[in-house]
Amino acid sequence: MFSFKEKIKMSLIKNNIKDEQNPFILFKNWYKKAKSNEISNPNAMALSTVGSFNKPRTRMVLMKEIREDGIVFFTNSNSRKGKHIVKNKNVSLNFYWKSIERQVLISGKIKKISSKDSDKYFRSRNRKSQIGAWTSKQSQILKNKSDLKTRFDDFEIKFQGKEIPRPKHWYGYCVYPDCFEFWLEGDGRLHDRLEYKLKSGQWIKKLLYP
Ligand SMILES: Cc1cc2nc3c(=O)[nH]c(=O)nc-3n(C[C@H](O)[C@H](O)[C@H](O)COP(=O)(O)O)c2cc1C
Repeated sequence: MFSFKEKIKMSLIKNNIKDEQNPFILFKNWYKKAKSNEISNPNAMALSTVGSFNKPRTRMVLMKEIREDGIVFFTNSNSRKGKHIVKNKNVSLNFYWKSIERQVLISGKIKKISSKDSDKYFRSRNRKSQIGAWTSKQSQILKNKSDLKTRFDDFEIKFQGKEIPRPKHWYGYCVYPDCFEFWLEGDGRLHDRLEYKLKSGQWIKKLLYP
C-alpha cells in the first residue's frame, strides 16, 4: 500500500503524465510497474465481447504483445469469444493491478493477426501447451473430463517426434484501441482518471471526475 504522500507523487497530474501525448507510452510505463509489483500474471486482462441479442460477456485472457498500435492475445477462433468477434469487432479490455492501485480500460476494434505471426508465437510455446491447443474444443460441451485427457493423449501420440503445427483455428488477435482510461486510486476517493480518445488520428486527452 502506498502512503498519501507517495500517491501524490505518483499522481497522474503531479507526474506531468498529462503531458504524455501517446497513451501507449503511458500504458507501457504502468505495465512495467505492474510487472515488478504483481504477484502473478500482470498481463491478465478482462476481455469483453458482444454476442447475439447484444449480450456482452467478459473473460480473462493473457496479453502477449504490446504493438505500436495494438494489444495482442491468443485464443481459439471457434470459441464463444471467437464467434462473437466474427459478428462484432467492438471489444473492451480491462487491466486491474491491485498492487499499484491502478486500472486501465481500453476499447477498440479487434482483428486477427497474420498466420505468420500466429505461427511464430505458437512455435514459442512449450509442447504441452501446443498439444493443449489441439486438444481443446474451446467453449464446446465436454461430456466427461476423461474425454479431454484421452484427446490430449491421442494428440501426444499423433505428434510424437514431430514439430507440432499451429491448429488452423488457433490465432492471435490484436485489439486496436480508440479509447484508453488510466485510473489511479486516490485518497478520500479522489481518484485520478485520464481519458484518451482517438479523433482523426489524434489522441485527445481529458480528465474525468472520479
Ligand atoms: C488468468 C487467465 C488467463 C487466461 N488466458 C487465456 C488466453 O490467453 N486465451 C484463452 O483463450 N483463454 C484464456 N483463459 C480462459 C478464458 O478466460 C476462457 O475461459 C476461455 O477463453 C473461453 O472463453 P469463451 O468461451 O468466452 O470464448 C484465461 C483464464 C484466466 C483465468
